[in-house]
Amino acid sequence: MDQLLVRPDLDARYEDPARLSRRDFLGAVAAGTLSAGLISESATAKPVLPDSAMAAPDNDSYWNHIADQFLIRPDVTYMNTGTRGPSPVAVYRAQIDSIKLANQDRLSYAAHVYNADFKSAVRLKLAKFVGCKPGEIALTNNTTEGMVTGTFGPDMKPGDEIIYTNHDHSSGGQPINLRCARQGTIPVMVDLSAPQFHPPRSPSVIVDAFEQAITPRTRLISLCHVNYTDGCVLPVEEICKMARSKGILTLVDGAHPPGMMDLDIASLGCDMYAGACHKWMLAGQLTGFLMVREDVLERVWPSNYSGPVNGLSLYGKPASDAQVSRAQTAEKYEMHGSTNYGIGVTIDAALNFHNRIGQQAIERRDRFLMARVRSGLQEIPGCQIYSSEDERLCAGLVSFKIKGVDPVALNEALWARHRIYIRNVSHPEINWNANRASLHIMVKTKQADDFVAAVAEYAKKPKR
Ligand SMILES: Cc1ncc(COP(=O)(O)O)c(C=O)c1O
Repeated sequence: MDQLLVRPDLDARYEDPARLSRRDFLGAVAAGTLSAGLISESATAKPVLPDSAMAAPDNDSYWNHIADQFLIRPDVTYMNTGTRGPSPVAVYRAQIDSIKLANQDRLSYAAHVYNADFKSAVRLKLAKFVGCKPGEIALTNNTTEGMVTGTFGPDMKPGDEIIYTNHDHSSGGQPINLRCARQGTIPVMVDLSAPQFHPPRSPSVIVDAFEQAITPRTRLISLCHVNYTDGCVLPVEEICKMARSKGILTLVDGAHPPGMMDLDIASLGCDMYAGACHKWMLAGQLTGFLMVREDVLERVWPSNYSGPVNGLSLYGKPASDAQVSRAQTAEKYEMHGSTNYGIGVTIDAALNFHNRIGQQAIERRDRFLMARVRSGLQEIPGCQIYSSEDERLCAGLVSFKIKGVDPVALNEALWARHRIYIRNVSHPEINWNANRASLHIMVKTKQADDFVAAVAEYAKKPKR
């Protein structure tokens, strides 16, 4: 068995409270200082992150300190935030503390975490972080859940068309397949598999491809903000503007941008945006959100619902004012029974972590690392890079393939020989199989350089 996969007890360094960027949750509860239920940054929080004015993207002493906030083993280079973002120690501790409290003292847990005030406070903070109104955001379990609600939510008739692309993740594509099979809507695919899209010459090449797919029957355009395959940042703003001018709804799969980019959903002009908190935002597993614009909330039905309908509760009895007003916001997408509200604690802690560094600084750092890796890979003979050099079309993901090298074999070799963890994205339907590295703040500059060197070394080896 691979010894490195067997975790010993946590390294004691990570249990040192001085490393934490938030106050001790249980201590605060015991001391009665946790009043309104919101666990957030307070004046008493220990400032453990260095001054963010130092956060120039190439300031290694600053970013090494940030990378050291993660529990990742020192011998491991983690470059797969695009699938799952490991939490920094402050977020991990917040989650552990909340689980502990739920089991130690149910009443305090209910008073402080498992309640509506806490969720509202988290929603408010998250809405500010991603750039939308608090009433427009619902906490979900993941991106997929938001994509399902967004796909099935708007009313449509048989024959109405839904545009999507063949570089969508199955989380976006499969709900469309299902809706079309059940209800007779028509899937219209934008073919992004052609070489002209890898990388595209300019954003307009992509906008044109979407425009050509629109017909008078188009009701919904579903698209990724960042493709999981080639890392391309799609010109979402332009596409949504075009769609809006034709009365077409837009649903954006935002699995990657929250936490990676300085996101401002309102400025994208989309109607719905499904995002993840457990990837680049670094919150606990099973965290995401769905944004539905205020002016289309009424048109987007929840998929899974236990709230009042048309102002009525059970047996035709009037619902309470509070229930009715909640059901008029995006909270209606959350009304589906018990959930693990404690998970919201990790969103709160992850937002604190990001806010203390600053999202612009994080985006600049991710772009710096990505550009460094991309230009290193470009020097390797036979290496094709799918990620664009145009700032508008790229961010923290780099996708590449080495001629004659099986992407899976490369992944395995990087892990076995160097403890570098990347992934390959295989999409056999469109003959796509490439390696993908996620460059986020847990990666040190030296690790990025060592990664390029390791790929170069492997590329030189004679292949069987
Ligand atoms: C573009 C894209 N959309 C959706 C998903 C699914 O995300 P989640 O696990 O949050 O549902 C992924 C996962 O990797 C993805 O890359």
